[in-house]
Amino acid sequence: MATFNLTINGTSKQVDVDPSTPVLWVLRDHLDLVGTKFGCGIAQCGACTIHLDGNAVRSCQLPVSAAEGASITTIEGLSENGDHPVQKAWMEHDVPQCGYCQAGQIMTAAALLQQNPNPSEEDIENAMNGNICRCGTYLRIKAAVKTAAQNL
Ligand code: FES
Ligand code: FES
Repeated sequence: MATFNLTINGTSKQVDVDPSTPVLWVLRDHLDLVGTKFGCGIAQCGACTIHLDGNAVRSCQLPVSAAEGASITTIEGLSENGDHPVQKAWMEHDVPQCGYCQAGQIMTAAALLQQNPNPSEEDIENAMNGNICRCGTYLRIKAAVKTAAQNL
C-alpha cells in the first residue's frame, strides 16, 4: 500500500492503495465515481476512457502510480451541468441505447475535439474506432461528433 495524491476533476484526492491498482478501480471503488465503466479490463473496449492531461486513456490499464501529478478528468467532471458540446450533441442525436459504453465514447470524442476541433470523417473514425458499442450506436455517435464539432 502507498498514499497517492491525485487531481481528479479539479479536486485533490488522497487514496491509500497498492501502486499497481488501475485508476478505474480507484475511481469506482475508492472515490465513488462510477460513471467510468468496466468493460474488458484489457484496454480493448474503451468503456473506461478518462482524460489524463487532456488525452483519452484507458483507466483499466493505467496504474495509479502513473497518474500522480497528472490532471484526471472523468465523465463526472467533463462539464458542470452535462452541457459540454459533446454531451449536448449526444442528446440532440439521442445516441445512447443501453448506455454502458457511452461515458467512454463521450470522453474519447471530447478529447478528439479538444485536439482537433475540425476533424474529417476519417479523423472521427480513427479516434472512435477503438470504442466498442454492443448496441451498435456507431452511426449516431459519428453524427453527434460532427454536430459537436460544428457547435464548438
Ligand atoms: S475496460 Fe478498459 S478498455 Fe475495456
Ligand atoms: S449503448 Fe449499449 S453498449 Fe453502447
